[in-house]
Amino acid sequence: MSFFNYFCKNTIDMSKLISHLSYPIYIGDFFSDLDAFIFQMQPKVSKVYILVDENTHLHCIPTLIRNSSVLANSEILEIESGENQKNLDICFHLWQTLAENNADRNTLLINLGGGVISDMGGFIASTYKRGIRFINIPTSLLAQVDAAVGGKTGIDLGVLKNHIGCFSNPEAVFVNPIFLDTLSNQEITSGIGEILKYSLIDRYELWDEFKSYHFNEISKWENLIESSLEIKTKIVKLDPSEKGLRKILNFGHTYGHAFESLSLQEKPEAPLLHGEAVALGIICELWHSVKKNNFPIHVFNEIKEFIFQNFRTYPIEEKGIDTVIDLMKKDKKNTEQNISVILLNNIGDVQFDSFVSEQEVRECLLYFISQ
Ligand SMILES: NC(=O)c1ccc[n+]([C@@H]2O[C@H](COP(=O)([O-])OP(=O)(O)OC[C@H]3O[C@@H](n4cnc5c(N)ncnc54)[C@H](O)[C@@H]3O)[C@@H](O)[C@H]2O)c1
Repeated sequence: MSFFNYFCKNTIDMSKLISHLSYPIYIGDFFSDLDAFIFQMQPKVSKVYILVDENTHLHCIPTLIRNSSVLANSEILEIESGENQKNLDICFHLWQTLAENNADRNTLLINLGGGVISDMGGFIASTYKRGIRFINIPTSLLAQVDAAVGGKTGIDLGVLKNHIGCFSNPEAVFVNPIFLDTLSNQEITSGIGEILKYSLIDRYELWDEFKSYHFNEISKWENLIESSLEIKTKIVKLDPSEKGLRKILNFGHTYGHAFESLSLQEKPEAPLLHGEAVALGIICELWHSVKKNNFPIHVFNEIKEFIFQNFRTYPIEEKGIDTVIDLMKKDKKNTEQNISVILLNNIGDVQFDSFVSEQEVRECLLYFISQ
């Protein structure tokens, strides 16, 4: 037994409930809660489909099926892993499979995987027959701390990230760190990118705790899953459809999405992972924060050094700046003239609805590539 399994078996013997939202989030050893939850659903579930990719099929299905009697007769829907699968063709294929199998409106879809699976599975479920119920069981760190919670579902439109989609809530979310045991180091780092975001938008103490951890100490990062979910659910509760406050969860994402899209175009064989791109985006949005909001420069330097030391960077050439700007302009958060970013006055003191001009973005990118 790995240390990680041992840790989970011996320290978490039941799941804990977070219930700020209209649906429950169970954290820990959730298997008996999952069975009870599905069993009690009304109207009764007619059939369960579990959406996986080849990695979660291999690593997560056996644990799930072994521990759940309710899921013994479920059907598995498998897609290939990767962000480039989050598209309309794959949705079409999945809708068609459900239809060919006569899946009715009391069908339950379980999304067992990372953010690609929960984003796309949530979208498929919300649109099939005008909506069937779904449950998220996130298995990557990034999905456990972020993607599986909050009701954003969707797919990419070419290189445009998450351009098609809708807000739609799962019936419940079940989070168990035991699944992280088989996740690659690079995927763990990507999840840590989103945890970094939470620590900077929330409070100094969390940033202090965050920077004290080494990236290979996975059990320590588990401590931050719950704090991250607490932060996200409290914000989402106040602003479920991102009219105002929820926008702060996009900190680092305007630049991050553009970096992620650029790397998908230029290096599809080894693109930046979502959380890695967000970490680089955080450097850029903090750079604007220093210029426009007097964010303390020494704190900026500390965070920048931390990110460059711990996350993979991406070589943007000067001639690539226009491409990044074009990608940023297409971000769905922008107004006609300006590019929307999230700025910080200080750690934990966040300003949403901030905009920067194309010229300011150009200066920031020149700074970024000079580092
Ligand atoms: N909806 C939201 O609020 C929200 C928030 C953040 C990110 N996202 C989306 O989430 C996606 C990124 O999520 P991700 O990083 O989880 O990507 P992912 O779903 O591609 O998973 C990453 C990789 O890890 C593998 N994997 C997952 N769980 C595993 C496990 N337990 N063991 C071994 N391998 C495992 C997957 O097969 C995949 O290869 C992006 O599409 C992003 O846009 C959505």
